[in-house]
Amino acid sequence: MGQRGFLLAFSAYSAVNSTSTHEPHAYALSRGLEPARLPRHVAVIMDGNGRWAVDRGQDRIFGHLRGADTVRTVTEECARLGIEQLTLYALSVENWKRPKPELDFLMALLKQYLADERPTLAKNDIRFAVIGRRAGLPDDVLAEIDDCTRFTAKHTGLRLCLAINYGGRTELVDAVRRLAAKAVRGEIDPEAIEERDVAASLYTAGMPEPDLLIRTAGEMRVSNYLLWQISYAELWVTPTRWPDFGIETLHEALKNYATRDRRFGGLTKPTPAC
Ligand code: FPP
Repeated sequence: MGQRGFLLAFSAYSAVNSTSTHEPHAYALSRGLEPARLPRHVAVIMDGNGRWAVDRGQDRIFGHLRGADTVRTVTEECARLGIEQLTLYALSVENWKRPKPELDFLMALLKQYLADERPTLAKNDIRFAVIGRRAGLPDDVLAEIDDCTRFTAKHTGLRLCLAINYGGRTELVDAVRRLAAKAVRGEIDPEAIEERDVAASLYTAGMPEPDLLIRTAGEMRVSNYLLWQISYAELWVTPTRWPDFGIETLHEALKNYATRDRRFGGLTKPTPAC
């Protein structure tokens, strides 16, 4: 092989094997993904952990344990691809109805994950964020969330956002309370409230809206997830359960997203004037 051939082969090899986020464009192309047609923000309802475990004769918590590995895999791949934000539904406000041992396990897993993940977040330049109600979460989990947020605050790559103790309706209630309090203080005129004021009062203030919402394990519902923000998200549901969701399935979702014609209530092509 000549020098030019070697250099070309080496650059292709680097793009495929690199774990850094410096060349997301080349990396995406090397995976058959058109960078310009990637979503800025991917949101995921990670479902099916329990069924995955029970089908294998194991306790449901093994599904969550394996699910945490999938979180790492998908997060790193989104960072490599140059996706701006990944928002994962880790615990809903409704999930508190589950048995205490499962909830205790989920809290311990979350805390462990946040402590263990820092090298991966640093290596991939990932910023960490959380949305949801703080009230109700154990103090040690809150402390770990705050440490991880601070530790990654200066990172400029993917924003990994975990929805923890999150509910779309709860978020809207909290936003209404904030706006109402401002109105009472005379800081805002109720008649002048616009969509942007509501958006700025949500937990997700300053974040882009999801372009793609992925749901695993086949259920066709949105389960109180990002109700305001997914108004124009493209939906993609797979029967694959979260512990089995991997890079290939993520690429399948992204390739499908790339085929979507997003009209946001308008028309794709100009129609002749009537
Ligand atoms: C839904 O599956 C999953 C959850 C309620 C928890 C998600 C948690 C993880 C993926 C692991 C921990 C997360 C992080 C970020 C470390 P399910 O239990 O409802 O499954 P089922 O519908 O089959 O019962």
